[in-house]
Amino acid sequence: MSKPSILVARAIFPETIARLAQHFEVTANQPDELWDRATLIDKLRGKAGVFTTGGERIDAELLAACPDLRICANMAVGYNNFDLAAMTAAGVLGTNTPDVLTETTADFGFALLLATARRLTESEHFLRAGQWNKWAFDMFAGAEVNGSTLGILGMGRIGQGIARRGAHGFGMNVIYHNRSRLDAATEADCKARYVDKATLLREADHLVLVLPYSPASHHAIGTAELAQMKPTATLVNVARGGIVDDAALAQALRERRIAAAGLDVFEGEPRVHPDLLTVPNVVLTPHIASATVRTRRAMADLAADNLINFLTQGQPKTPLNPEALGGARR
Ligand code: GLV
Repeated sequence: MSKPSILVARAIFPETIARLAQHFEVTANQPDELWDRATLIDKLRGKAGVFTTGGERIDAELLAACPDLRICANMAVGYNNFDLAAMTAAGVLGTNTPDVLTETTADFGFALLLATARRLTESEHFLRAGQWNKWAFDMFAGAEVNGSTLGILGMGRIGQGIARRGAHGFGMNVIYHNRSRLDAATEADCKARYVDKATLLREADHLVLVLPYSPASHHAIGTAELAQMKPTATLVNVARGGIVDDAALAQALRERRIAAAGLDVFEGEPRVHPDLLTVPNVVLTPHIASATVRTRRAMADLAADNLINFLTQGQPKTPLNPEALGGARR
């Protein structure tokens, strides 16, 4: 029997390609060309599966053009590149890579919080520019982390990981807001108190965003929300671009309406709003929160497992829309 054909849309570990090739006819993109949409659709014709990395938009138009497609396996926990309703309607399964990146991403969220509060980027630029010629009592004096109030917007697995680090490691008072309140045992484990969004904005010394992007969370933090935060507060976004209004944030940072921000994700990335590049009180990283070698391998393995398990046995490991399994393309 001939092997199903799949597309790997971006460069990935050679070992992952080799493993997939044991089960599939693989079209890979190891030169990591950035395909436009027409090219992606063209490459996808006749493929039963696609390995995506979070940037490839899968919607009704693409699905209609690729009738053989049965699974889109994202190597990311976020899946806002998938129109899941359109995929379900077309009987196409989506999968993501939850759990394997939780602790690594929480580590990074906390690293960004510390770097932002303690002004690491700004002070390093100062030193590299040869401007450090004497000690000063207030040089790069930042915001206290230990014992302060950590606010978390979006209390899923990664949010809980950041809460535990803050509460248990840094003696922080943790408050959170989420679509639904956590059960009492999880709240106790995270030492976290549920509050409404207005209280979160008003009371947090350090506000960390970890909520998924959807039309409902678009610009969840904009001018009005920034105005409710303390002028001494810091804001960290390790969730998705578009949750923060980047232009409004740059203006708030410039006018010192909040003290500082740490951003790993941006609206329209890899482009970054030019105003964010010129304000000093922001730490900027290129969407690397899950980027350790071990975690990126685990994510690639899980995305590959989903393709292999689904296309050879009908049993994906981490399906997003299992209801699609009864759909037209089985
Ligand atoms: C990264 O942003 C992910 O969603 O895994």
